[in-house]
Amino acid sequence: MIIVLDCGSQYNQNIARRVRENRVFTEIRPYTTPVGELRRPDLEGIIISGGPWSVYDEGSPLYPKKVFDIGVPVLGICYGMQSMAYLLGGKDAVEPAEGRREYGPMEVIITSGTDSIFKGIAKGSIQTWMSHGDVVKGMPDGFKVAATSGTGHLSAMIDPHRRLYAVQFHPEVDNTEHGRDILANFVDICGCARDWTSGNFIEEKIREVRERVGDAHAIGGISGGVDSTTASTLMHKALGSRYHPILVDNGVLRKGEAREVLGYLGRHFPKMDVAYVDAGELFLARLAGVTDPEEKRKIIGGTFIEVFEREARRIGMEVPIRYLMQGTLYPDVIESVPAYGGPQDTIKSHHNVGGLPERMDLELIEPFRELFKDEVREVAKELGIPKEIYGRHPFPGPGLAIRIIGEVTPEKVAILQEADRRFITAIREHGHYDRIWQALTVLTDSKSVGVMGDARTHEYAAVLRAVTSRDGMTADVYEFPPRFLRDVTVDIVNSVRGINRVTYDCTPKPPGTIEWE
Ligand code: XMP
Repeated sequence: MIIVLDCGSQYNQNIARRVRENRVFTEIRPYTTPVGELRRPDLEGIIISGGPWSVYDEGSPLYPKKVFDIGVPVLGICYGMQSMAYLLGGKDAVEPAEGRREYGPMEVIITSGTDSIFKGIAKGSIQTWMSHGDVVKGMPDGFKVAATSGTGHLSAMIDPHRRLYAVQFHPEVDNTEHGRDILANFVDICGCARDWTSGNFIEEKIREVRERVGDAHAIGGISGGVDSTTASTLMHKALGSRYHPILVDNGVLRKGEAREVLGYLGRHFPKMDVAYVDAGELFLARLAGVTDPEEKRKIIGGTFIEVFEREARRIGMEVPIRYLMQGTLYPDVIESVPAYGGPQDTIKSHHNVGGLPERMDLELIEPFRELFKDEVREVAKELGIPKEIYGRHPFPGPGLAIRIIGEVTPEKVAILQEADRRFITAIREHGHYDRIWQALTVLTDSKSVGVMGDARTHEYAAVLRAVTSRDGMTADVYEFPPRFLRDVTVDIVNSVRGINRVTYDCTPKPPGTIEWE
């Protein structure tokens, strides 16, 4: 296995994911992890992540220098390279890149290392992604230059004897040419067997859940989506009837969804006893008058927990419930919580992360907190979950509430449900569903003037959105064939009372996000 030492980079989960793509088990551990804990018999390599600091900042994440004496290969990335140079070379090793800081796409010229970290990549120029203000000026003894940037800064250094490697750019980011190859080369240098699979992941998680829960019971939300259904299946495998999945209708699900989901869960998982709680009125009452997106998310997150705690107490009359399982994924985490001390803003408080109340009676279990959606789909397949479920588009926990701009009312929910049903049905009928990452309809709070029959109308404008994506972190607009959008628009405007205009959202992510709120 390879350990990623987390120095606060927003990309550290990408590093872990790239390593996992090579079928090697990876764990992200804080930079403060004692060296004694890192010296485990199964450790084959260490990657030191980037981070938003300078090594000279007070409190910058400096791990023990003994990390380099463990005897396994080490790869430093960005701040990881600077801290490696600083710890091994002394305090003049790193300097601010006065006037020539490197952010964004940057050319790097590879001069050596094509027999190790740059194997399979020709000497010469590649495009990379950089994000740093400091540069390495003095390499520690034993290192040689492996690459320099177009700006003239050191971009990669290697000590082949101690098997220490460092790059100033981010190989874990898609914008770096050959980034995957560089990480795959490191995996080879570490001598990893490449035999870790989603099957191993399932076994490990089941063991972990059993150890943690002991004789207690757990409840969990199940929405019928990929994440919560897969996580519930795993929990059911681990705990059997001591796991109690609950489907909460929060009043902002898609049209007929609760019934449909209960139907297919019953068909596919007859042994899992799914409880159904209709809390629609409670959620909608809490949302009344609220227009701020973050507030909506927090209200929904808090109300979910309240409902779960109530259910836990109800079931708990007979058995002790201590744990709540949620199908949180890594992108929910990264967009909800600024890296510790880091410069990023919270983008959205995904309801099951940033939307949680501060005090909770139940302890959280989040088996997929480190995974991306496509990795969860792999786990789902391995668990024998049918495509009908793992192939579903993502649907956010706060549901249609974050697709209704402005106040959420039962009338607006009904309007949006009907428009969305028509859009999604057309997408399925025309064979687009599996090519799209996510399709959705937004009900704006703007009304536009139209004419129907001979009468003037003044109704809401709705927005259709369909995107392709790998993991939801970035997204591109899906290009429908010419008549498709026109036909869906006419269908919605003619059939859905309350909408008289439909537009298509062509914004990629970034700069947009997938959901409107
Ligand atoms: P954004 O809008 O941030 O969405 O580009 C990225 C992906 O995350 C989903 N999403 C959520 N999922 N709880 C969830 O479970 C949430 O609060 C939440 N907010 C956004 C979104 O649908 C997209 O797939």
